[in-house]
Amino acid sequence: MVSKNIEKALNNQIRIEAESAQIYLAMACWAEVKGLEGIAGFMYAQSQEERDHMLKLIKFVNERGGHAQISKLAEPNVSFKSFKEMFEELYKHEVFVSESINELVHISLQEKDYATHNFLQWYVAEQIEEEAMARTILDKINLIGDDKGGLYLFDRDIVNLTVNTAATGNMP
Ligand code: FEO
Repeated sequence: MVSKNIEKALNNQIRIEAESAQIYLAMACWAEVKGLEGIAGFMYAQSQEERDHMLKLIKFVNERGGHAQISKLAEPNVSFKSFKEMFEELYKHEVFVSESINELVHISLQEKDYATHNFLQWYVAEQIEEEAMARTILDKINLIGDDKGGLYLFDRDIVNLTVNTAATGNMP
């Protein structure tokens, strides 16, 4: 059974994961209309991952005697100055999500809720991977700079990243 405090904190995370899905969906659309099909595909996949993160939390809350709340979401940014700016926003957002997960872990320990603490370890590991992936992408973008040929290759390679991810079932 989850306490009211834990239920509230988990519901907050459900909203954050839902907002993450919307943020990446908006990025996918922006990239798609710019003709960056690889980046768009990557962002659509990211958005789907976030929806899965949300659903996993929803199931946990409901199974633990709480009631998962489906709440109003903040509107995402729908356009970006550059694809570099877009990936910087993705990185900043993932850092924010990690902080939110850490806070949740902290609350679960304060409440001595070891079932929730154990459940959250999956999210802790996931955030390490997501932040590392975003940093790797930003490093590549900094190498490309304004080179159009580099952007072409990047857009092509990021498709492989998504395909490999789908094949292994892991987050990139
Ligand atoms: Fe669900 Fe990308 O954090």
